[in-house]
Amino acid sequence: MNILITGGAGFIGSHLCDELLGQGHTLVAVDNLVLGREENIAHLFSHSGFTFCKGDILDAAFFEALFVDNRFDVVFHLAANSDIQKGGNDPMVDYELTFRTTFNVLQCMRKYGVAQLVFASTSAIYGETTDLLWENYGPLRPVSNYGAAKLASEAYITAFAASYGIRAWITRFPNVVGERFTHGVIYDFIRKLKNNPHELTVLGNGEQIKPYMYVKDLVRGIMYVWENSHEPVNVYNLGVDSRTKVKDIARMVIEELGLQAHIVYTGGDRGWVGDVPEFKYDLSKIHLLGWQAQHTSDEAVSLAIKKAIEYSK
Ligand SMILES: NC(=O)c1ccc[n+]([C@@H]2O[C@H](COP(=O)([O-])OP(=O)(O)OC[C@H]3O[C@@H](n4cnc5c(N)ncnc54)[C@H](O)[C@@H]3O)[C@@H](O)[C@H]2O)c1
Repeated sequence: MNILITGGAGFIGSHLCDELLGQGHTLVAVDNLVLGREENIAHLFSHSGFTFCKGDILDAAFFEALFVDNRFDVVFHLAANSDIQKGGNDPMVDYELTFRTTFNVLQCMRKYGVAQLVFASTSAIYGETTDLLWENYGPLRPVSNYGAAKLASEAYITAFAASYGIRAWITRFPNVVGERFTHGVIYDFIRKLKNNPHELTVLGNGEQIKPYMYVKDLVRGIMYVWENSHEPVNVYNLGVDSRTKVKDIARMVIEELGLQAHIVYTGGDRGWVGDVPEFKYDLSKIHLLGWQAQHTSDEAVSLAIKKAIEYSK
């Protein structure tokens, strides 16, 4: 298939490019590199099925020209603001990068007759609750601008699906970890410890507990959902049953770097405005479809730490 992937130079997007090319698809990856990095996809530049277009989805002329020049069968839309703290400090960030990018993608799909959309959604749409989160859980009350912009994106996707016949696969990710990080807790801890190997400041009390998923598991899960679910709109939680505490991640990063760093907690049950102390997915829908992640949360964290250190050398 001829595929457009937005956010293709980002952390998850670059792994998805590897997977899609490996399966014989032809790709145009678009990214403005606001968070993504060319080095994440540099190994693909010589691949005949791969084209990288540096530019902004919010630049209507640039973005529309991609649809004029190519006949896409499907769009994988991953571009967004992935820095939730930044989005908390400035509400325009998620409105623009997380919501308006989705709207522009949908408008171009409608105008140029692209029939399939695979969307990167998130656990953040569920808001703050200790309930088991299943796909029809509601009412949904996000507590971050990021979660709100993703939920608004989902709403427009289902409306465009109903109104204009676009088929959609909405995959809701947990915390994703692995090599080519552009952000996130492990990335943050490694960066801080490189600056100061004696002390690690952890945001919150370290008791935050969440499922962490290895990026290659996630990418296989996205592909599985796309290939095996056939409703007009297919909504799936992607994740792992187990969870890992932030204080354990801090300990694992320090150990893997061979340091004796002292951990300082800033206190409180969450790291930043819009963070949630915990969440837990109900994964029965994806399991019933026939797919499970290969790595537990602890295994994903441990592997991601090793890979991230190796990659950053
Ligand atoms: N990493 C996670 O834990 C996680 C969890 C849940 C959902 N998600 C979602 O998965 C997707 C990928 O996340 P990621 O972790 O790879 O983040 P990322 O920041 O590495 O990737 C997003 C990419 O989008 C690009 N981008 C942003 N705005 C753009 C614009 N206007 N035009 C063109 N490109 C633009 C960025 O440069 C970046 O490369 C995002 O939609 C994110 O919200 C990620």
